[in-house]
Amino acid sequence: MKMTNAALFGFGTIGTGVAKILLNNADRVANAAGQSVNLVKICDKDIAVKRDVVLPPDVLTDGIDAVINDPNIQIGIELIGGTTFAKDLVLRLLEKGKNVITANKALLAQHGRELFETARKYGKTIAFEAAVCGGIPILNALSTALQANTLQSVNAIVNGTSNYILSQMESGGTSYQDAVKQAQKLGYAEANPAMDVDGTDAVQKLTILAQLGFGAAVNWQDVSRIGIEAVESLDFHYANELGYRIKLLAVAERSDDGLELHVSPTLVKTDNLLAAVNGAFNAVRVIGDAVGPVFFHGLGAGSLPTASAVVGDVIDTVLGRTAITFNALNLWGENRRDVPLKKQSEFFGRSYLRFHAEDQPGVLHEISGIFGKHGISIATLIQHAPAQRAAEHLPAVLILTTHEAREGGLLEAIAELERSPHITGSVVRMRVQD
Ligand code: HSE
Repeated sequence: MKMTNAALFGFGTIGTGVAKILLNNADRVANAAGQSVNLVKICDKDIAVKRDVVLPPDVLTDGIDAVINDPNIQIGIELIGGTTFAKDLVLRLLEKGKNVITANKALLAQHGRELFETARKYGKTIAFEAAVCGGIPILNALSTALQANTLQSVNAIVNGTSNYILSQMESGGTSYQDAVKQAQKLGYAEANPAMDVDGTDAVQKLTILAQLGFGAAVNWQDVSRIGIEAVESLDFHYANELGYRIKLLAVAERSDDGLELHVSPTLVKTDNLLAAVNGAFNAVRVIGDAVGPVFFHGLGAGSLPTASAVVGDVIDTVLGRTAITFNALNLWGENRRDVPLKKQSEFFGRSYLRFHAEDQPGVLHEISGIFGKHGISIATLIQHAPAQRAAEHLPAVLILTTHEAREGGLLEAIAELERSPHITGSVVRMRVQD
């Protein structure tokens, strides 16, 4: 019987899940791939720490060079993470004639073009379903079944950690810090959880979705990003009062003048399916011109859900399905159709703002004047006066939502508000999606 030998690089949370599936479900995988897939080597710099999987002897090694150079290994699975060592590893694997599977969104968002060019040069493939939304087969859907469509939008919850934190905060029982720790313990968070909460992880995933769904070649650092660090429990209260829930949304939206890409905490109308996505779950709502809206939901992080996507890629690579799609799509290729990107100042939509203002005569007049001057129309306004206003000179909390407006005008209005002597601190901003 034919067989394929695979090596795993990185034996952490996802690596352990991949080893479990490849070893414990070997028959299932062999049936799907039409041949046995042998996990012959696992490389990690730490070969002493105990993992939750029993390995055959001699599989675990810290001798990475011998594995990269082994001509009997046809597939390399990169689960090391990061963009320096991992990039070098993927390039070396391709040069050595191995097909690559990776879950590394940062690597693809940063070096997609170079890696894919190298893969094409050596006639090899890179599969990366696990890089976006873990177990949800969204990349597969975008690159195969939805290819008949011109996509209009992708709205997605792509970071399980921040969704978990927001859900825990909203349900009232858990502090922000405890929710972060819990997410780390459950294996959802990045090695540096700052990348989950500041929106970096979501932007990197959005960059990949934009390449697959819209042909947009974007530097992830150029994508407009707001994290969830400034979200407070009172925001959930006000959002609820207005008929919304708060989610960290990654958005790609096409209009006649280009593609809008951004990540930000967003007030999502309660009857929108995305509003009901809780905990570490991810979801993607795609609208195509032919298919209309399609909704994907599932676990976007964690050991086995992510490993499910990695092993699915292994099977597709062995079967040759990856090569067919890979060659047809020409991802990050020079001649790939490209959409123009809209500048942030030209984004158009509604916003939610929260800030502290002096509770004195004329202040609200000044505030509404600033919005009016920049062409922003206020849709709702809530003011909560402090209990001991006169004695303490405490500022009032103001929450307002805007009607649809150009983001350039909104940012100018915010800058002017923050310069006003009657406003304390900075303005917290979220988007609103009806
Ligand atoms: N830290 C990521 C998340 C893991 O929380 O979604 C999957 O990319």
